[in-house]
Amino acid sequence: MAHHQKIALFSNQLLSASNKNMLRSASWFAGVKMGPPDAILGITEAFKRDANPQKVNLGVGAYRDDAGKPFILNSVLKAEQKILDKKLDKEYSAIGGNADFCKLSYELAMGDGTYADNVFTVQSISGTGALRLGAAFLNSFWEGNREVYMPNPTWANHIPIFQHSGLKVNTYRYYYPETCGLDFKGAIEDINKIPPKSIILLHACAHNPTGVDPKPEQWAELSELIRKRNLFPFFDMAYQGFASGDCVKDAFAVRLFAKEGHHLALCQSYAKNMGLYGERSGAFSLLSDSKDETDRCLSQMKILIRPMYSNPPIHGAHIVREILSDKALRSEWLVEVKDMAERIISMRTALQNNLVKLGSTRPWNHITDQIGMFCYTGLKPDQVERLTKEFSIYLTKDGRISMAGMTSKNVEYVAKAMHAVTA
Ligand SMILES: Cc1ncc(COP(=O)(O)O)c(C=O)c1O
Repeated sequence: MAHHQKIALFSNQLLSASNKNMLRSASWFAGVKMGPPDAILGITEAFKRDANPQKVNLGVGAYRDDAGKPFILNSVLKAEQKILDKKLDKEYSAIGGNADFCKLSYELAMGDGTYADNVFTVQSISGTGALRLGAAFLNSFWEGNREVYMPNPTWANHIPIFQHSGLKVNTYRYYYPETCGLDFKGAIEDINKIPPKSIILLHACAHNPTGVDPKPEQWAELSELIRKRNLFPFFDMAYQGFASGDCVKDAFAVRLFAKEGHHLALCQSYAKNMGLYGERSGAFSLLSDSKDETDRCLSQMKILIRPMYSNPPIHGAHIVREILSDKALRSEWLVEVKDMAERIISMRTALQNNLVKLGSTRPWNHITDQIGMFCYTGLKPDQVERLTKEFSIYLTKDGRISMAGMTSKNVEYVAKAMHAVTA
């Protein structure tokens, strides 16, 4: 047999062998275990499958209008039109994102004229990305303990974000189940025991999941204690404007800490306050000691970002920049944030009033004392289960309800169901 004939025969044999899967490599992933479904997305899936016309989804952390529909802000629509009219290109952004966006974001949090040379801000993939960048930066360059202390409870994603970055996660007391309020005494006791040079995570406003925030005088005490213990404050501000309806009021804590001379990290998100959930627009800022320190830290932050995602998306940042830099658009946006917050606040009052009207004797004052998108109802897991099984009301097992999912049409139904399972 000629040489080329032998090769043809051999490749035919190979082909038929591969047809029989004989050449398939052994699996590299046979040992991968099935992970649990995401708790919140799982709730939405179950909600979608439910045929009850009265069903209510109080699990999802996104704003809905009074008809229960996703809401696009007018200021956002106008900003998008302006972007279209400008025929902006789609070139890559800088590694740290849009420079105007960064300055405007920092100053939205800290006040006009505060973007000094001892601060850097980089654009991030929304609030989650800001947290992830900050955690990665601290894990690489923080000169203290690689340990972060978080309020208990905290937003569930905080824990894996910081662990994934290599930091050890601990907690401090925060929530007092008996009153559904702040465990300030417990928090102070625990913070007093945190080893110096550790990181402390603080929710700047509208604590998720509890809706429980420290009062201004309590923030002042926390600021003093955190300085005394020599801790590094790491602020997560995902809800500026959403708590009270006023972006300045909601920035009280971060502005206080900056004024009192703390060096700090700040994470911002435009998901909630501009309704830009899917645009993934956010910012990470580091307020440090000097221009020299800031320049060095920023250079290292860019080196961290480059292999993660190279540079951030541009569209959301352009929307934010248009809104914050145009006086009229900014004023319109501030009114829209206020309207969203006020709708949520009015739903809190309506839910509480309905429970009282139905004759519930349980104390429900925490519904209106708490603030922001969520209410930590104090409902126990078996009561939550009944709400879902008997009334098709969906919420997380910890009894957290998203007030944004409540409408003037469903609030009475929800109150009746809550009364039925707690009576
Ligand atoms: C406390 C807290 N931090 C950060 C985020 C980040 O959200 P996003 O990545 O959508 O901006 C959220 C969202 O629910 C949150 O509740």
